[in-house]
Amino acid sequence: MTWSSPTVNHWTAAIDPVLSRALKAHDASIAEHCDRVASLAVLLGKAVGLPQHDLAVLTLSAHLHDIGKMEIPDAILRKAGPLDATERAVMQTHSVRGEEIILAHCDLSFRKEIATVVRHHHEHWNGGGYPDGLRTGAIPLLSRILSVIDSYDAMTSPRPYHRIRTHAAVLSTLDAERGVKHDPSILDAFLACRFK
Ligand SMILES: [Fe+2]
Repeated sequence: MTWSSPTVNHWTAAIDPVLSRALKAHDASIAEHCDRVASLAVLLGKAVGLPQHDLAVLTLSAHLHDIGKMEIPDAILRKAGPLDATERAVMQTHSVRGEEIILAHCDLSFRKEIATVVRHHHEHWNGGGYPDGLRTGAIPLLSRILSVIDSYDAMTSPRPYHRIRTHAAVLSTLDAERGVKHDPSILDAFLACRFK
């Protein structure tokens, strides 16, 4: 498997059209990030042997994982420099806001599963993440997969507050987060995939 393989994602057609359109209209760059994360997450999900239903939940969760940022004030969401502690705390509410938005507005039958994955996509393997400080296997598996891909895309995409890193530097940073931020077995599966 290579990351450059074309990904025909038949679950994309099932994405909640209202929520996805709203996110695109609010911030195209966040929507594009979510789309890239979804494409890679389904590949990693297949690599770790997820069953079809879980692949669908993972894909849809990835497409909506940052939808809570629609409720973050522009002064924080679009700030060019690093966030201060207060701003960071507000930004970190986006995962719970995302869960609430999906539960309230998503029409998909398995929205509760999607909302749970979204709530926990910033938990860390060592318990240092948010919103609940879950650790190791208490973090939903799909959230752990999403976390690795989310980090990878964040580091390989241009952001106002950091320079683009080389691919080798990104993989090195991810590897350094083994057992700290990321599930070692998920990270191993990710790093075992061939890159072009
Ligand atoms: Fe996020």
